[in-house]
Amino acid sequence: MAWWAHLYADSKALSSGVNFVHLAGILVAGGFAIVTDRASLLLSPESGTDILRELERGRGVHAWVLGGLAVVAASGVLQLFSDLHTYLTSVLFWAKMGLIALLLVNGWVRMRAERGLEAGGTADWKRFRLTSVVSLVLWFTVLLAGVFLTTIS
Ligand code: HEM
Repeated sequence: MAWWAHLYADSKALSSGVNFVHLAGILVAGGFAIVTDRASLLLSPESGTDILRELERGRGVHAWVLGGLAVVAASGVLQLFSDLHTYLTSVLFWAKMGLIALLLVNGWVRMRAERGLEAGGTADWKRFRLTSVVSLVLWFTVLLAGVFLTTIS
C-alpha cells in the first residue's frame, strides 16, 4: 500500500476529501445516535408516551447509525493505510478502536433491551437507559481520541 501512502501524502485534495467523508459519516451516525439517546432518556414507563411507537421510530435510526459508521470505518481505513506503521504502533489508535468496539457492543445490548421492552418486559428499562448514557459518553470519547490521533501523524 506504499502507492496509497504516497498518493495521500502528495495530494491535499485527496486527504481532505477522505477526511471530509470521515467527518460526514460521524455527523450522520453520531447525530442520529445523540438525538435518539436524548429522546430515550426522556422516555419512562410513567411518561404516558406511546412507548411502542417511540421504539418503532427508533428502529429506523439503527440503519442510519450503522450506515454512517460503515462510511466512517471505510474512510478511517483509508487514513490508516496512509501511515500504517505510525497508527498500528500507537496506543491511542488501539484505544480508539477498543472504544469503537465498545460502542458496537453497547448498540447490540441496547437493541436487545428494545426487543425486551417491545415484548412487555419492564426489567429492560434499566438497560435501555444505561445504554443511552453509555452511548453518549462513548461517542464523545471516540471523537476526542480521533481528534488527538491527528497529533501523532
Ligand atoms: C474503524 C473505524 C475508524 C478508523 C479505522 C479510524 C481511523 C482514523 C484515522 C487513521 C484518522 C487520521 C488521523 C490523522 O489525520 O492523523 C482518524 C481521524 C479522526 N477520526 Fe477516526 N477512525 C474510525 C472511526 C472514528 C469514529 C467512530 C469517530 C468519531 C466518533 C472518529 C473520529 C475521528 C476524528 C474526529 C478524526 C480527526 C479528523 C481531523 O480533524 O482530521 N473516527 N480516524
